[in-house]
Amino acid sequence: MSVDERDPHSGYKTTGHEWNGIKELNTPVPRPVYFFLIVTFLFSIGYWVLMPAWPTGLSYTKGLLGLDQRASVEREVAQAAAARAPWMNALVRTPYEQALADPALMARVRDTGATLFGDNCAACHGANGAGAPGFPNLRDDIWLWGGAPDTIAETIRVGVNSGHADARVSQMMAFGRDQMLPQEDVRAVIAYVRSLSAARAPAPSATLTRGAVVFANTCASCHGARGEGIQQMGAPSLIDSDWLYGGDQETIFQTVWHGRQGQMPAWEGRLSASERRLLTLYLLDQQRRRQ
Ligand code: HEC
Ligand code: HEC
Repeated sequence: MSVDERDPHSGYKTTGHEWNGIKELNTPVPRPVYFFLIVTFLFSIGYWVLMPAWPTGLSYTKGLLGLDQRASVEREVAQAAAARAPWMNALVRTPYEQALADPALMARVRDTGATLFGDNCAACHGANGAGAPGFPNLRDDIWLWGGAPDTIAETIRVGVNSGHADARVSQMMAFGRDQMLPQEDVRAVIAYVRSLSAARAPAPSATLTRGAVVFANTCASCHGARGEGIQQMGAPSLIDSDWLYGGDQETIFQTVWHGRQGQMPAWEGRLSASERRLLTLYLLDQQRRRQ
């Protein structure tokens, strides 16, 4: 609403509203605002006609251009797989040792393997495969289950305590909590284990003698008579300086008192046979290059 009164200072008409002598100007909306409103409106109509836009219950308006992000991603994935096919096929046919000696093939393995490892394994085994307490280092030559190519490939296929029909099964019992050993025996065997390991922690000889007896009776069946570990059981060596969980007094107590049961998922069904083979080669290569 405007009345026929013009503000002498600004030159605009007033609305006629007045508050204690202050009058309201009837300022017009600036033209650029109309301009942008019209442009964005036209753009939205054009976009709606050309691109997927409105939901229509079970489907949606497809747009004249027929663009579909899902279809284009699927196309790109298929293209990438087709580009990989020749050397992936070569990889599946080539025996492990021969593949490891083939620089061109291994360059591909390193490249694709790093991505596959990062996407599937790094969350547990660390970005560079160096592991963390409870998650084994995959870059050294110390293996819970064995480091032969076929053994590594099998571990990846079936996992550990994974629920897979062929899963590797490992269990370090809770000797203290489940009262399989008296507390004194737990203490003694821990002292004995610590005296065995590379740290060679000293302890009174009576304790060590008692610990050695407990070890021979209770632990040796899985960890070996000398504590050297038995890969068929997934039982680690207790005499080296490498620890899966940790070699300090407190951590070993946790292990022997409360038990441990590491879990590694089975990858059969989630990764193809050739992807698992590629990861096996990737791990072997990483390990060899560090030696
Ligand atoms: C959810 C965590 C997790 C993920 C993800 C995972 N792992 Fe494991 N992995 C483990 C644990 C835990 C162990 C040790 C199991 C045990 O205690 O015996 C293990 C053991 C292994 C071993 C045996 C090591 C040895 O010393 O014998 C290999 C090989 C391995 N993992 C490879 C892989 C690869 C390759 C991937 C990715 C495709 C992967 N892991 C993903 C947790 C994981
Ligand atoms: C039934 C087999 C079995 C028996 C018996 C057994 N262990 Fe174990 N032990 C294992 C397995 C398997 C692991 C690895 C657990 C894992 O991967 O999560 C392990 C792990 C350990 C670890 C952790 C090592 C590390 O690197 O952190 C210690 C320490 C240990 N055992 C000590 C003992 C002692 C001491 C006894 C005897 C009182 C004993 N174990 C008896 C199977 C056994």
